[in-house]
Parts: sequence; structure tokens; C-alpha cells
Amino acid sequence: MNTEFVICDTIDDVTHAASELIQKLCADAILDHGSASLAISGGSTPQALFKLWQLETFPGLAAVKVFMSDERLVSASSNDSNHGTLLRLWPDVCEAQLHLPDVDKDEAVVAGAYQHVLVDVLGANPAFDCVMLGLGEDGHTASLFPGKASLHDENLVCVADYGALPPPVKRLTLTYGCINMAKNVVVIATGAKKLPWIQALLAGNVDKESFPLAGVKPQGTLWFVLDRAAWPEA
Ligand code: 6PG
Repeated sequence: MNTEFVICDTIDDVTHAASELIQKLCADAILDHGSASLAISGGSTPQALFKLWQLETFPGLAAVKVFMSDERLVSASSNDSNHGTLLRLWPDVCEAQLHLPDVDKDEAVVAGAYQHVLVDVLGANPAFDCVMLGLGEDGHTASLFPGKASLHDENLVCVADYGALPPPVKRLTLTYGCINMAKNVVVIATGAKKLPWIQALLAGNVDKESFPLAGVKPQGTLWFVLDRAAWPEA
């Protein structure tokens, strides 16, 4: 794994830098094997990306297979729904290229069903061309929360109990086993509340139990796109 940091002056610069990076990673994948597999993270940070991609054409979008890095087990009509938010802000993504979890399924089968989708579309060992991730104020990423069983789940996808941060709903998440097969992971984080975790990472804090992002070690490149508030100035 190699790690790259892109440090931007403003949140708007982060949005544009992350967009350019993700679009380049997808373009490289399309050149290499005719399509790109992209897992989209939830939370609020990606929303500016969705708005940008709705405004400006995402080059080669038709060849991009869009998945979710994690999802809350709520209706798509809920404001807490990650893919519901994606569809509301980025309606140009056509249904055919979206591979979304069926959150209406029973909790006992929803993870297995999404894992089948991943394997059907990407093969037995799905190595995403790009997995987008955020960083929670408690050090979580995707829906891998501190101290939770999902940190140790051996499947590619699992149901995760919610952590300390709202909303208090169960989640569906890609596991480390899936995320770490990725060719690229792009972590997008802004604001001073994320700074302690970036500092911990730079200091070598690798205890994924208390700092789940530290368990993200993709076979390819781990990218961080950060604003200055989340980056420890020298
Ligand atoms: C979720 C997200 C979660 C998010 C972080 C950062 O479903 O909650 O996937 O992992 O990426 O909590 O969220 P913000 O971008 O809102 O800070």
C-alpha cells in the first residue's frame, strides 16, 4: 500500500480535487478494462460531489458501476439514506449503472444479498477500482465503528450495529476484507474535528478497534483529500 495526501485550502477545493481524482481513477480503469467500479461513501461530505457531478459531466460515467460503501437501513426516501441522498442530488446517474443495496430486505438477508450483487457484477474477489470513504468524528469509516463486531466480520458486506454518532440505525457496510482489496481508496475529510484522527494516523496509531479508519490498508493506493483544518500544519 502507498499513501498519498492532497491538502486543499478550502472545502470547495477539496470537492474539486476529490472529483478530479475520482474521475481520473475511473478513467484509468475504463482505459484498462473497459469499466470502473466505484463505491460511494455516505454522510454529508460527498453531497457537494454529487451536486458538482450533476452540474458538470462526469467523463465516462456510463461505464462506471456505482455501489455504496455503506448504507443506513432506512427507506431511500429518508434524509438519512445515503443512496437516497445520492439520487436526489445526482439524478443523472442512470439506474442501469447503480448497484444499490436493497434496504427493504430483512436485516437477516440484506448483507448477503448485497454481497451477491458485488460478486455477480465484480467477480468472486471484488477489487474496487475506487472506494470512497469518509472519516467520522469518532474515527469510524464506512459503517465500521469503534469496538463493533463489523470490524471483525469475515464477509465482504455485513450489517453493522450503529456507533455513537447519529443516526442510531443499523447499517450495511463494506468490510475491511472488501475495502482492502481495492486498487484505490479515497478518504475525503474536512474540518478541525477530523484533525486528531489524521494526526493519530500520521503518528502510527494503528489500533483499528478504537480507530477503524486505521484498518483501511488497500492493496493499491490510500488517498487522503483534506482541507487545511484537518491537516496538521508543520
Ligand atoms: C455514513 C458514512 C460515514 C461518513 C462519516 C463522515 O453512512 O455515516 O458513510 O462513514 O463517511 O461519518 O461523515 P461526514 O462526511 O458527514 O463528516
